[in-house]
Amino acid sequence: MTFELPGCAGSCPYLPERSSGLEFPVGQVRRVAAVKETESDDVDETRRNVLKLAGVGALVLAGGGLGAASIQYVQPPTVGLASYPKVQLMDVSGKPLTTTGVEAEYNVGTPDLFLFNYPLRNEPNFLLNLSPVNAKPPSSSNPGAWQVPGGVGANRSIVAYSAICQHLGCPAPAISYYPPGACPRSFNGQPFYLHCSCHGSTYDPANSASNLTGPAVLPLPQVTLVEDEHHNLFATGLTGPPVNGHLNSLQGDYGVGTTSQLARSGSLILCSFPS
Ligand code: FES
Repeated sequence: MTFELPGCAGSCPYLPERSSGLEFPVGQVRRVAAVKETESDDVDETRRNVLKLAGVGALVLAGGGLGAASIQYVQPPTVGLASYPKVQLMDVSGKPLTTTGVEAEYNVGTPDLFLFNYPLRNEPNFLLNLSPVNAKPPSSSNPGAWQVPGGVGANRSIVAYSAICQHLGCPAPAISYYPPGACPRSFNGQPFYLHCSCHGSTYDPANSASNLTGPAVLPLPQVTLVEDEHHNLFATGLTGPPVNGHLNSLQGDYGVGTTSQLARSGSLILCSFPS
């Protein structure tokens, strides 16, 4: 059984009945007990609330930490570069690659592929020298190209393009360089091109890798090449659309570092073209 303090009807705390074993008059005891117990309840309630809030705060903080950790887990940090690096190209033996060396060793008729990664480790590129086999000015009877957009070397015939097809991303050697005579096919009288055997896209290496046949509708990204006073070759950027498979050609893997070495590989020539 409980009772109400006088004058507190409806708003004061209820106290337990103390009907036996009291040394003091009931009224006095009730008054003292009421004050003490009310203060005690207030303190306890405040303490409880503080503890509750502290507990909720701890949970929120812990939850936030777990949430952040979870977000970090499901969204791994983006790997990539902030800007295009200047990367020195090395030949297949690991020595600095020079334009004079390229002009002496490779030309429009070289059937093998020379690939280097840039700017990321998973972005291969073709290195081509489109100069005619005999190093004389190109003509209809002497296939080749000089003064190519973005070209370097004595006749601006050395160029580099992404070796990942802009259609669905088939990499070299599925996309390969086709030298003159590799297939009985020319485009606008030009018998050399880059062709992807996955679905038939063809690109013009003498004209910024523009599209000659679909289904790809975008050109291949072109590597910006520069040479220093000793004819050493460097890659310094990419122009054109992003490399296929990358929202941004600078993101999606680690950079190649300060040098990138050519790798020699056989090409894949199938001579199957869209009609
Ligand atoms: S991936 Fe090259 S044409 Fe489709």
